[in-house]
Amino acid sequence: MEKAKLTLDRDFTGAEIDKRLYGSFAEHLGRCIYGGLYDPTHPDADDEGFRTDVISAIRDLGATVIRYPGGNFVSAYRWEDGVGPRELRPRRPEIAWSTTETNQFGTDEFMSWCKKAGVEPMMAVNLGSRGAEDAKNLLEYCNAQPGTFYADMRAKNASKDPYGVKLWCLGNEMDGPWQVGHKDAHDYAMTANSASRAMKLLDPDIQTIACGSSNSGMNTFIDWEREVLDLCWDTVDYISLHTYFGNSGGDVPSFLARSLSMDSFIDTVGSLIDTVKAKKRSKKNVYLSFDEWNVWYHSNGAQFERWSVAPPILEDVYDFADTLVVGAMLNSLIRHADRVKIACLAQIVNVIAPIMTETGGRLARQTTYYPIMLTAKNVSGKVLEQRLDCPKYDCKDFTDVPYLDTVCAVDGDRLTVTVVNRSLEEPVPLEAVLRGFGKLGYVSGSTIAGHALDTVNTFDSEPVRPRPADEPEMTGNGFNALIPAASWNLFTFSID
Ligand code: AHR
Repeated sequence: MEKAKLTLDRDFTGAEIDKRLYGSFAEHLGRCIYGGLYDPTHPDADDEGFRTDVISAIRDLGATVIRYPGGNFVSAYRWEDGVGPRELRPRRPEIAWSTTETNQFGTDEFMSWCKKAGVEPMMAVNLGSRGAEDAKNLLEYCNAQPGTFYADMRAKNASKDPYGVKLWCLGNEMDGPWQVGHKDAHDYAMTANSASRAMKLLDPDIQTIACGSSNSGMNTFIDWEREVLDLCWDTVDYISLHTYFGNSGGDVPSFLARSLSMDSFIDTVGSLIDTVKAKKRSKKNVYLSFDEWNVWYHSNGAQFERWSVAPPILEDVYDFADTLVVGAMLNSLIRHADRVKIACLAQIVNVIAPIMTETGGRLARQTTYYPIMLTAKNVSGKVLEQRLDCPKYDCKDFTDVPYLDTVCAVDGDRLTVTVVNRSLEEPVPLEAVLRGFGKLGYVSGSTIAGHALDTVNTFDSEPVRPRPADEPEMTGNGFNALIPAASWNLFTFSID
């Protein structure tokens, strides 16, 4: 394979990488909460029933923000059902996923769990079956000082101190016909606008996230964003994007190239923001919250017992090919750090997740766990503009796909370079020319490579995990590295 050339200049730094890009998502869905976060009879459960092995795995993953409680679930959720004495909490049919919700885990448990897991809560309010009034009440429950009805309710149930939740999603995927309370763009924008306005009157320190399209393939995509941004511009801080990639057709070269469409999704919504901003002659900015992203297809068609409690739903078992796609999706989010300020891998445990548990039993780290963990731990500071001249391929769904996908960041005296090689057959020689970085030293490198694409991690063994990368050759003004075929890699260098 011809070599790829990466050129970086120390003066060409871009946006600060917001640490909330390394967020995730916990929905009352399948075994995410019950059997995942909360499993009171598990030997590793703490005094509140939270699995401490799961908390440790989430801390190691480097998760920063967790979105809760849905997802589709939130659009029919009565948050009051999930607070107060457990024995008085009602069991309800959960109509988004056709299960039974026991409400044994609710808002107060989530807040306490977030503290233990060291993550920031990101709450979603129900704008499907409910509206602005209930959203405001939940905000009062979470954030108001004692002395009013819902704040006193919280003080009695769990905590005198307000929780100070800053991030609030205004519903979930309200453009989707599957959503309880689905609305057209105008109706949704009116509802979201009045909810956001009421919530900010109560607590001006919060930030709100309006629903964008459920994915870029929706018929209403673009018109939806334009209308929502136009109506809600003054009251919201972010608009959401969601994307899941799959490979049911078994076309690996196209699957590995899918992150290109994530790039263009972000660019398109970014341009719409600029258009609305220009039309309004506004000084304000609205940013992107990519609050659901992942690979999702392995569990398609799996059956479960309807109306049962916490059945296994969406339990994708990820393979090595997914490691590469998830790595490239992360690169895409970081490359767009100027626009994307929050991102949530959907989801965190058991449901399309990097962490799997046996209810009452063991825990496993899926193949997708490791690129996320290493990126979250190492890639920080400012993203660097880059010039990548790279051999390319064509496939069924894309043309001119660069074999390498790179993202580079500088944080103080550290430079990180993350590289995915999409070539299934050949290593790619990478020549990096680094201008203005002073004396460059190699610190460390990790690679995930050398596996058959269908290799999976199980409760018994985790073959897909990082190992030290071959040390690049330092050239005086950069480095040369041979990037293994089908691989994810992260190199760290010291700079002056
Ligand atoms: O993450 C699984 C589901 O995907 C969420 O509930 C929904 O928002 C999306 O369609």
